[in-house]
Order: sequence, then C-alpha cells, then structure tokens
Amino acid sequence: MTDAYSVAGVALDDALAALRRHDPSARAFWLYDLDGFRARAARLLGAFGSQGVHVAYALKANGCGALVRAARETGLDADAGSLGELELAAACGYDAAHLTLSGNGRTREEAAWVCAHGAAAVSADHVGELDLLESAAAAAGVTLRVALRVNPGIATPGHKYVATGGHDAKFGVSAEEALAAWEGRARWSHLRVDGLHLHVGSQLLDTAPLEAAARAARELADASRARGAALGLVNLGGGFGVDYDEGTREFPVEAWAARLGEHARASGLDWRIEPGRWLVAPVGTLVAEVLWEKRRAEDGTVHRFVVLAAGMNDLLRPALYGARHRAVPVRPREGERTAAAVVGPVCESGDTFEEGALLPPLTSGDLVALLDAGAYGAAMSSQYNGRGRLAELVIDGGALKLARRAERPADLRLRDCDVRL
Ligand SMILES: Cc1ncc(COP(=O)(O)O)c(C=O)c1O
Repeated sequence: MTDAYSVAGVALDDALAALRRHDPSARAFWLYDLDGFRARAARLLGAFGSQGVHVAYALKANGCGALVRAARETGLDADAGSLGELELAAACGYDAAHLTLSGNGRTREEAAWVCAHGAAAVSADHVGELDLLESAAAAAGVTLRVALRVNPGIATPGHKYVATGGHDAKFGVSAEEALAAWEGRARWSHLRVDGLHLHVGSQLLDTAPLEAAARAARELADASRARGAALGLVNLGGGFGVDYDEGTREFPVEAWAARLGEHARASGLDWRIEPGRWLVAPVGTLVAEVLWEKRRAEDGTVHRFVVLAAGMNDLLRPALYGARHRAVPVRPREGERTAAAVVGPVCESGDTFEEGALLPPLTSGDLVALLDAGAYGAAMSSQYNGRGRLAELVIDGGALKLARRAERPADLRLRDCDVRL
C-alpha cells in the first residue's frame, strides 16, 4: 500500500481513527481545511476588496460554525438566505453592518429579525415583499436598505437547477417592474429602495454570464437614474465555479475582479458579490468507509459496486444534479484499477456517486474520499432513510478538531411528540 491521501498534512485514515476515539461507530465524516478556506477568503478579499467591491460569504454553501467564524475573522461579510442563517451569522459574531439577507420567499419573521438586529441590505424578490418589509420596518420604526431582485433573462450553462437568471427561473421581477418600483419608491417610506440584486447562476467557470449581468445592472441603473430614481447598490450574487472533474480549471478570480472594478468605477455605485461554492467546495472532503465491495456477473459482464458508508442523504449533488465528485481511495492497494460504481447504502438507485470510477482493489474497511465536497454537501444533507447527519471535522492550524457532532440514531427521534392541537 502507498501513502495515505491527506488533507492539510492529516492522513484521512488517521482522521477517522481520531474521530472514532470520540465516536466508535463513525464510518464517514466531512473534513474541512480551515486554513485553506481562510486562504481562499483572503484571495477573494484581496482581489475584489482592492477594487472597492464588498465580498460576502453565501452561508447556504456551508453553514458549519467553524467556517462561518473563519469567514468573519478573515473579513468576509455574510449573506444569509433564511431566518436560520441570520441566526447562524449572529451566533458566529456577525453584526448588522456585515450581514445581508437575500433569497426569495421573504417572511414576516425574517423581516422582523432584520428590523430588530439590522442588516446592511435585504433583498426583495418582488413588490409584495417590499410591502412586507415596509410594514415590518414601520412597526419597528427603522429604515431598511433594500435591493430588488431582477430577473435579467440571462442564460447560464450547466444544470437547470442552478441557472437562476433565465426567464423561466422563479427569481426576481422583470426589468420594467423594477424600474417602476424604483420610480415609485417614495411609497415605502421606511425602506431605502436603491439597490439591485442579480444572481444569474452557480458553477460558472467562464465570466461571460457575469459580464452580461454586470452590463444589465448598469443599463438598469442608468434607466432608473433617467427616471429620477438613482440607485446606490448593485449586488451581483455569487456563481464562481470550481472544476469538479480534474481540479485544474480555475475561475479567473483576479481578472474578473479587475473587470468588476471597472464597472464599479464607471457606474459610481457600491457593488457587492456573495460567492459560496468557490470559497468552500475545494476545501471540503467527504470521507467514507467501504462497507462492501460487491461483484455481480451477468451475461458475461461483471458489475463491480463499491458500497460506501455515506449516501445521497449525505452528499445529494450527484443524485440531484448529476454532479461528479472524484472518488479517491485513501490508501490505494496494489493491483489493477477497474471500473466500479461507487454507491451509497440508501434505498434508491440514484444513490450513486459515480458510475465508472477507475479504482484499485478495495476491501471492507478501506476508505474512499469524495473530493471538492465542501459546498452544498453537508448543507444539503438530510436524515433520509433514518440516517443521521455526519460529523464535521476541521483542520485548523494543523490541529484536527471535531466542529459538529454526528447525529446518532436517538437524535432522529427528537422531534417526535404527541401533542394535541
Ligand atoms: C442569491 C444567491 N447569492 C449567492 C449564492 C451563492 O452562489 P455560489 O455558491 O454559486 O457562489 C446563491 C446560490 O444559490 C444565491 O442564490
């Protein structure tokens, strides 16, 4: 056997052994390289901050408290998408000046929260949400800064579910509705409706859709100014992609920052971005024990299945988007690499991480790492099939730490009750 696959100097089988001293039944876990996350955050801040563009971490990508605190300490703002994420940000030390609220489906409770605690800006997905925010702000006697989400009709490549700027996506209002709202904004006397929010899609490796979005934003800002309603803020959302296939293609961070800086200076507006995936995907790994290796012979073909102790309830992206996360044996054995379907233990055929991974011989108890799993991994995990969510570990300054405990079988019954209503 060769050396073990390691993250930030920690061999992944050593990490499991350390976790097992705490939880003997652990068979899979998430591992985040916190220093790697800080380095990526610093790189974004360096590139965009120097252009006068504010950078927030989109908490939805990964809400592990250790990461959120690291984001704050590094100097990133936080972008929350729900009441739970607002609470998470506050618990991790974020104050109003460094917190935004975006996303659609605004509720009274979210509106009341931002009125009570403050926020740098709040997005409204349509005019009804402006009315909701206005009544909450009036009741609280505060003024909220609001960015109206616009659907610019910009198509993005990749999976339909992460394309959010096309006309068939659920987000935002039309350009004409937005212009009318800005022009008539005096009716929301407790709101400062001078912002525009565009998030055209996720997992972009090419800047063309972002450039189209920035141009659309500037055209709208010009049109609004011409109607007597000057804007002050543009939030361009997130979207920076990572190369899940080979890990070699890079989103051009510095080049895009320089270009966005040109838009910012030419427009004279405050610009914000709120990336999630780029910051955290590459610093996260899902590590799982091989439960079984199974071979099934049929019609002269042998199908090889590697059954992991992690499933689609843990990492949903392959089942949901057909996404790929490279499967890497942690301590590869000698022997020929042959094609295998890497699957989980959930009762669905969609519980497949990869169909034809080329893997060396594996036996029960070996470990497999699924790479680039830090974004929309643990954040999307569920208890489906009665499976508790996995522990989340971090490597922080070379030290391995348990940042979130695993849910145990008894935790799955915590919400059961017998309350007469
Ligand atoms: C409004 C908004 N901002 C930011 C993001 C983060 O996007 P990404 O992780 O692609 O950077 C999302 C993702 O869904 C979003 O909906």
